[in-house]
Amino acid sequence: MPRPNSIGLETPALEIPAGKDYITDFAADAWELTDRMPKMVFIERDGNRKEVEAPVGLSVLEIAHRNEVDIEGACEGSLACSTCHVIVDPDWHERLPEASEDEEDMLDLAFDLQRTSRLGCQLIITEEMDGLTVRLPGDTRNMLLE
Ligand code: FES
Repeated sequence: MPRPNSIGLETPALEIPAGKDYITDFAADAWELTDRMPKMVFIERDGNRKEVEAPVGLSVLEIAHRNEVDIEGACEGSLACSTCHVIVDPDWHERLPEASEDEEDMLDLAFDLQRTSRLGCQLIITEEMDGLTVRLPGDTRNMLLE
């Protein structure tokens, strides 16, 4: 039987089929998703190790912002700055897709450049990247302000 909602529109009553418990099923699905969610680790400038969830399809920069890790990302991922510079753990560096020429060019302008440096906005998480560890560089250069 339709019932008015908070803005006065009538909505049909929710019918739950016999034998179906949506709350329990939803919780089980959510648990399974969480259980399979890749993780990644940021080593912050003070040496603090921060392990966070790393949803597939998000960039390292986006994950940093979701978890209050101090990476600027001034150009919001458009390869026009190097403020998303991260230093990838050497064990991980060879396992990542190669940097594009544009990424390499932008990295050349980053402070504290290392052999395993990458731009966080260009590293997109896949299931195979579960456990990825990156360190924040000592400093960044924001060319948008220079
Ligand atoms: S956020 Fe500017 S290049 Fe990554």
